[in-house]
Amino acid sequence: MRSAARACTEIDRAQLRRALSAVPTCVTVVSAADGEVPFGLVAGSFVSISLEPPLVGFFVATSSTSWPNMARAGRFAVNVLAAGQDSLCARFARSGGDKFTGVRWIRSALGNPLLPGAVLWIDCWLWETRVLGDHLLVVGRVVTFEEPGSTTGVPLVFHSNDLRALPPEWA
Ligand SMILES: Cc1cc2nc3c(=O)[nH]c(=O)nc-3n(C[C@H](O)[C@H](O)[C@H](O)COP(=O)(O)O)c2cc1C
Repeated sequence: MRSAARACTEIDRAQLRRALSAVPTCVTVVSAADGEVPFGLVAGSFVSISLEPPLVGFFVATSSTSWPNMARAGRFAVNVLAAGQDSLCARFARSGGDKFTGVRWIRSALGNPLLPGAVLWIDCWLWETRVLGDHLLVVGRVVTFEEPGSTTGVPLVFHSNDLRALPPEWA
């Protein structure tokens, strides 16, 4: 029992992170507007949770500087990035600052920022948050969604610390 507990605490976080990079993830920009000010961050942890009620979620680091501003809005959108939107990923993966300067965006029905060219937009009310270790699970209730049609329709994928596009025939 004791040795198992020790093994858990001795997990090398850098090695674990490297090992987990073998798991491919989607690349989303989660966005919200606190009044007139848009905020956003890249989340690869997006997950569909439930159809009845319609719930989706993602995990955000408790160190996120954008999330507290987004949480105040009580709603958020998920923009699933398309192949070719690598520069948007780089921009929204930076911490803090005005990430929307020079970026084209429109407002969703709920008032969340939507990025043209995404493969999928999902517009949510904030349903629940729960602290899990150094991340928060953020759950949203889906109000509307749209596949706005991107140049390729092919989603961006993150794998082995690299952005990749699925082959076009998979779109
Ligand atoms: C491909 C990719 C996926 C990411 N996924 C997440 C995620 O799921 N949750 C998270 O908190 N940060 C994730 N990050 C890091 C955040 O995007 C980054 O720390 C964030 O933009 C923090 O900004 P903020 O301090 O303005 O909130 C990811 C970064 C990349 C490049």
